[in-house]
Amino acid sequence: MNTLRNFRMELPIVLYIFSLITSGLCLVQSKEWSYEGENGPENWPGVCVIGENQSPIDIVTDDLSRADLGRLKFIKYDVQYEANITNTGHSVQIDLNNNEELVVPRIETTTSTYILKQMHFHWPAEHTVDGKHDALEVHFVHYDKQYNNFSEALKHSSGIVVVASLFELHTHDNHDLTPILEGVVTVTPWVGPSTAIMNLKFMPLVLLPKDHTTYYRYKGSLTTPNCLESVLWFVLTEKLTVSDTQINIFKNLQSSKGSLSFNNRPIQKTGCRKVQHHLDGYSAASTTSSNLLFTLCNLLLVTLLFSRHKM
Ligand SMILES: *[C@@H]1O[C@H](CO)[C@@H](O)[C@H](O)[C@H]1NC(C)=O
Ligand SMILES: *[C@@H]1O[C@H](CO)[C@@H](O)[C@H](O)[C@H]1NC(C)=O
Ligand SMILES: [Zn+2]
Repeated sequence: MNTLRNFRMELPIVLYIFSLITSGLCLVQSKEWSYEGENGPENWPGVCVIGENQSPIDIVTDDLSRADLGRLKFIKYDVQYEANITNTGHSVQIDLNNNEELVVPRIETTTSTYILKQMHFHWPAEHTVDGKHDALEVHFVHYDKQYNNFSEALKHSSGIVVVASLFELHTHDNHDLTPILEGVVTVTPWVGPSTAIMNLKFMPLVLLPKDHTTYYRYKGSLTTPNCLESVLWFVLTEKLTVSDTQINIFKNLQSSKGSLSFNNRPIQKTGCRKVQHHLDGYSAASTTSSNLLFTLCNLLLVTLLFSRHKM
């Protein structure tokens, strides 16, 4: 049992190094990726294909391990920022135009502080809950402060924290999206990647559900090439709303291949991963039997990996 336990501790590190090496080899090819056709998700390079901790996933609410993992503290999310909006050809991205360290939005967990780097959207949503695909998902991309910058943090397991909010389709417009949608219209024509300064100031808090204390958490990857497995995901349980008319504004965004009618990566295998559900005050109950299952699952995975490697 002791050797099993040691093995279980080291396995994620081994897999992580393995994925870093393989993704590094394929960096060159990752420039041309898209959401359909020959450069679509089935043919994305390196760790996108062979990784075992990929994102997004389907969150199965009957299969969560519930625990009090500590609240996420959103700091300076309630400030109005000047922001740039960019049509990257794969999404719409928002970068805050501020250089002052003290007013950078960030989240604090029980273990570290994560600095907000950028926000971007996926339509429809990437994560599903019990198979249900929502209309829109926003990703708040953060990096662990101890690594100084985003590119350095990408090299570390859980160096990146992405908080995701889901938007359900609703008959009424969500007026909190108005400044963003005006920006989207401005950068809609494709002239290569293009940036505009948003006319209205923007407050990140409006893209979080009112109750942002409850979340699902799991270890995964970037959902775009090179799909590095450095991401600790927090998918917020509560949802926001968006109307069909508003979604159509996103869908009209032009890219090198015409309208970007969708930009969600297909659901990836959950494999051995356990999705945790944070609830305030829940007494942590990680049972021995689920740990044993996890170990057996990982053993099986390693056997598969090595046999694949020999071929
Ligand atoms: C926002 O856009 C302006 C003008 O294009 C640029 O000078 C500035 O560096 C951009 N800021 C960010 C954070 O990208
Ligand atoms: C990021 O941080 C690392 C280590 O602190 C440093 O070596 C590197 O030059 C930095 N990269 C950028 C783009 O600032
Ligand atoms: Zn994303």
